[in-house]
Amino acid sequence: MDAKIVLLPGDGIGPEVVAEGQKVLNAVAAKFGHRFTMSSHPIGGIAIDEFGTALPDATLTAARDSHAILLGAVGGPKWDNPTAKVRPEQGLLKIRKELGLFANLRPISVLPELVAASPLKPEIVSGVDILFFRELTGGLYFGESGTRPAKDGSGEESFSTMIYSTGEVERIVRLAAQAARGRKKKVTSVDKANVLEVSRLWRRTFERVMQTEFPDVQYENILVDAAAMYLISKPRSFDVVVTENMFGDILTDEGSMLPGSMGMLPSASIGSSGPGLYEPIHGSAPDIAGQGIANPLATILASAMLLRHSLKLEAEAVAVEQAVHKVLQEGYRTKDLAAKDAPWLKTAAMGEAVLKVL
Ligand code: IPM
Ligand code: MG
Repeated sequence: MDAKIVLLPGDGIGPEVVAEGQKVLNAVAAKFGHRFTMSSHPIGGIAIDEFGTALPDATLTAARDSHAILLGAVGGPKWDNPTAKVRPEQGLLKIRKELGLFANLRPISVLPELVAASPLKPEIVSGVDILFFRELTGGLYFGESGTRPAKDGSGEESFSTMIYSTGEVERIVRLAAQAARGRKKKVTSVDKANVLEVSRLWRRTFERVMQTEFPDVQYENILVDAAAMYLISKPRSFDVVVTENMFGDILTDEGSMLPGSMGMLPSASIGSSGPGLYEPIHGSAPDIAGQGIANPLATILASAMLLRHSLKLEAEAVAVEQAVHKVLQEGYRTKDLAAKDAPWLKTAAMGEAVLKVL
């Protein structure tokens, strides 16, 4: 097939890991006889430096016009001024919103060969396989917010609001439940319905959609504080988890520690139509940027998700995932995964190892 893929390397280690994802996509094209046209565009801090905005119009236009987007990471200390009007993160939030990418899929699994890399005991983490559906274009991130004179006279007060409509809950719940059908047929919804009105709407809607549209899928509700605890104490009890934007942001960072390194975890942000956006869940890691030691596997696995979800190339996606597993089985590690004093590969060498298997 012919496909246009937009690369958004961004900041920090973003360009280093996206370069490896690009190599893998090129290798897939060659091996399976596809033509992927790839073009690179600025987003985040680097775009602020050059264009004064975190998401230049030309980047958004190219993204809209593509079949899929592979993103590295945005942000870094250079732009980390809390009072700054333009911030790298705005680029990411805006592209999610503009492209209607309301569903953020974050799979978290612990591969047998990496059980030792987890900070948790092997008997707790082995066999973990969770698929998070984080709502991505609503809630606190996009609700009404503002700053005004404080009612108590102490200066200013600020507010951010969490708003969800029935339709916003329904569409993410449907995607989660459909995914559960291809897995263990269980969906856990995470909310704070004992306190928040918005969570009560979320829960009512979740239960109705599950009962009326997915009678074959088991479901449960868990409060977010308890979910944070169970994610550490019994992570194997989760299969598909669906939750709102902010809870999902926090829980997926927590969950990312189950496999021991964020360097392994990809994510996909998809809408009801149009291109999806694929990225590693880790950030720009400014502390190691430019050294060529970042783990490219999350981005390589994100390209596998891109092949699967946006290009519908399942066999190609599986080939990439199997290549990653194979190099890990063969004992290759990047610095973040290696045991103390054990040898490890630099970013490009790990990319090469995957290419060789592919
Ligand atoms: C993520 C990140 C972003 C978010 C930031 C960079 C805006 O933490 O993708 O999880 O909060 O959504
Ligand atoms: Mg986050």
